[in-house]
Amino acid sequence: MKAALSSIVPEQQQQDSEFLKDVLEGLGGKIKTLPCKYLYDELGSRLFEDICEVEDYYLTRTEADIFSKNLKDIAFTIGPEALMIEPGAGNCEKVEALLAVLESPKGYYPIDISSEILFQAERRIKRNLPGMQVWSQVGDFTQPDVWDKLARISSRKRVVFFPGSTIGNFELDKAEQLLELFAANLGVGDGLLIGTDLVKDSVRLERAYHDSEHVTEKFNKNILNRINAELGADFDHTLFAHRSFYHQLRQRVEMHLVCLKNHSVSVAGSQVDFLEGETIHTENSHKYSINGFSKLLSKGGFAPICHWKDSAKSYAIHYAQVV
Ligand SMILES: C[S@@+](CC[C@H](N)C(=O)[O-])C[C@H]1O[C@@H](n2cnc3c(N)ncnc32)[C@H](O)[C@@H]1O
Repeated sequence: MKAALSSIVPEQQQQDSEFLKDVLEGLGGKIKTLPCKYLYDELGSRLFEDICEVEDYYLTRTEADIFSKNLKDIAFTIGPEALMIEPGAGNCEKVEALLAVLESPKGYYPIDISSEILFQAERRIKRNLPGMQVWSQVGDFTQPDVWDKLARISSRKRVVFFPGSTIGNFELDKAEQLLELFAANLGVGDGLLIGTDLVKDSVRLERAYHDSEHVTEKFNKNILNRINAELGADFDHTLFAHRSFYHQLRQRVEMHLVCLKNHSVSVAGSQVDFLEGETIHTENSHKYSINGFSKLLSKGGFAPICHWKDSAKSYAIHYAQVV
């Protein structure tokens, strides 16, 4: 029992100190930022699920629609005995329908920083798909260590499943590096099934990230409450407002927290000063054209094979292979 505890505690401390380092670094810069992965603690993951249900947030619904209409075609494209790997798996709901129709899947390797949501999902998958092998990995999918165990699983084909337009959260150079990381953990001919939100009119985009039910606002502000709870800070979230807008040139929706009056916040003993009107940049959601994304895939080591879209051309699911 003692040995088990001592191996858990340092890991938690390590995560906390990395969180603190990232927060102090992000808030200490000229332009204040916070890495968007920290939006997802247990409450943040639940709030994100609520966002997916919001009328204005068309992404999840549209992606689900493309999947359900093309599921057999997608399964045929992937082929038999595939090991499905999902970085940022969340509640693993999308993959479940796919695992159910794939021909003799080898199993499922989900990776997520939020352990609560991941292990809940693992239990549900094992219950709903008896016999399915699941190797859950808690950690940051941008770090090589969470991919290491893949080497011990023999499979005919590996396919990285990256839905939800999560690639859109990465700056272009970081998105390319992430694709390279995926490719490095796959072999030639292995696959990538990936969802991207398509470039469209800014009104629709901005409404999706500033919904009338204020769920995105709660999701955005939750990061301040999380920093208070986990790092002993004293943010007053009422002194910040949620702001999101479409940046035409960068083809991305930016999400910020705008400071409403001059004040200081203490984060683990360090003072951070905020000026009225100053913002903390919390998330980007890049939008791609089909051609633009095909180019990115090629830069990341993949050959685009095919894609599926909805009839309104709002969203696309791409299949690509490692070259
Ligand atoms: C937008 S949700 C997507 C969930 C699911 N793949 C889907 O499409 O519905 C993002 C998920 O990725 C996880 N996540 C975000 N950044 C991560 C990172 N760097 N490493 C591991 N998980 C991450 C979050 O915890 C959250 O569950």
